[in-house]
Amino acid sequence: MVWKSMIALAGGAAISLSGAGHAATSAPFQIPAVLHADQPGPVLSRHLQGQFAEHLGAGVYDGIWVGPDSAIPNTRGIRNDVAAALKAIKVPVVRWPGGCFADIYHWRDGIGAAAKRPVRKNDWWSGLESNAFGTHEYFDFVEQIGAESYVAINMATSTPSEMREWMDYITSSAKDSIADERRANGRQEPWKLGFVGIGNEAWGCGGAQTPEYFANEYRRFATFMHRNGSTFHMHNDNAALRVASGPNNDDVAWMDTVLKSAAPMMDAISLHYYTVFDGKWENRDKAGATGFPADHWNHILYQASRMDGVLRMHEAVMDRHDPQKRIGLYVDEWGTWYAPEAGTEPGFLRQQNTLRDALVTAMTLNIFHAHADRVKMANIAQAVNVLQAMILTDGAKMARTPTYHVFAMYTPFQDATALPLEVSAPMLKSGANSFPAFSASAARGKDGRVHVAVANADADRGYRLSVKLDGIRAGKVSGQVLTAAQTDAHNVPGAAEQVRPVRFDGAKLVGGALVLDIPEKSVVVVALDQN
Ligand code: AHR
Repeated sequence: MVWKSMIALAGGAAISLSGAGHAATSAPFQIPAVLHADQPGPVLSRHLQGQFAEHLGAGVYDGIWVGPDSAIPNTRGIRNDVAAALKAIKVPVVRWPGGCFADIYHWRDGIGAAAKRPVRKNDWWSGLESNAFGTHEYFDFVEQIGAESYVAINMATSTPSEMREWMDYITSSAKDSIADERRANGRQEPWKLGFVGIGNEAWGCGGAQTPEYFANEYRRFATFMHRNGSTFHMHNDNAALRVASGPNNDDVAWMDTVLKSAAPMMDAISLHYYTVFDGKWENRDKAGATGFPADHWNHILYQASRMDGVLRMHEAVMDRHDPQKRIGLYVDEWGTWYAPEAGTEPGFLRQQNTLRDALVTAMTLNIFHAHADRVKMANIAQAVNVLQAMILTDGAKMARTPTYHVFAMYTPFQDATALPLEVSAPMLKSGANSFPAFSASAARGKDGRVHVAVANADADRGYRLSVKLDGIRAGKVSGQVLTAAQTDAHNVPGAAEQVRPVRFDGAKLVGGALVLDIPEKSVVVVALDQN
């Protein structure tokens, strides 16, 4: 049996309700479920909880980097509050420096004496790029928060030579000139480079390439990546995994063409999928992050639920080219994209983040769990101040968003072993489309406990899940719930948090079953301790 057909990603039509808009009810809808704790599935890579930080608006400058002379408390220029908040959610990996910015970035602009670094226009996102945050600052940042590195190289307006020199600058342990240059700039030891993205959105801002042209270019660049372990490069210092720029949304032709030509030369291929109001990127500004009409709740959550179908389409293609599943699918940009916050520069992509985004997050992480045999990394866009951010800053003030809190609740799933959870959800309506009212996933954590997460997207109705426990004798259950009275409840820098997880009192063990009373519009994560 294929893993996906066993997982508890809700989506059955076993129970039919009239869809969204039904009246709130005090009696929770009863849903049977079975958790197979004795049937371990794939590992849920910690990298599924990865982040993306681009030189865009206040994503890096002000958001992460304030400089060593700032009055905002910092360590070598990196904000202490932001670094501590990201460390607390165990961010496993940060993709940098873009995005589209990567396609115009020249790494030599960002090394050496800060005062001598060139100031350039950020042609994609407006504003000026000071280059104060470069290679050394990025690696300092990921080391401070305990994350691995994922560098996107410029393949669109650069050359294999420039890429090769950057890789050597980062990874060389030899007494060669480029490593000596790094040492002269203050870093003796090479850094550990985890992942290298070769190209970003090559079909769009990365050069508007055709898949055939990109596949050839990818082969050329990948040849000079000189990856440790690949042919002729058994002892190179550069051991980073190579990630090919993959498709947008459901573009399976891109996936097919690129894999056909270049599969042996990649370790992973990326996918970008953004949740926008009606699924059309050109209409992304037609929906606001806050103050939205009631029906926008379902419209956005439906678009988020489409991630499941998009992954299935690409996995079918990948399975043809790579039945052994050697190549990872990295969803290295995902998240909600709304109209920019009023009064902000549109190119800075600043938006608020509400309870609805919390549901998008939990639903999407549950989907990734269901696809963990192929999906090995995902990077939400973006970590700070941009799109569906973890953190919003305003000068010295900072807010942890509802999205942040869901990531915090899901940390026990990092490197946990997935467990099948059979459950079927009623469907909600978004126009002519429908999607599951809730989704769920379960895993045995590295702490030995069994963790169960439920994302209830139903704005009006709670559900009682009666989960038969197979293969585990649970003695204790405890957990957290995240919800709010308003669908657009959110947190503002400097103000008391309106949305944050609190202790969940709706879980109990009855005989051999776990009973969960899941409130409407909520995210619940519980842990089971074995008897
Ligand atoms: O995350 C913002 C932008 O979205 C990225 O720069 C680009 O890759 C994508 O189109």
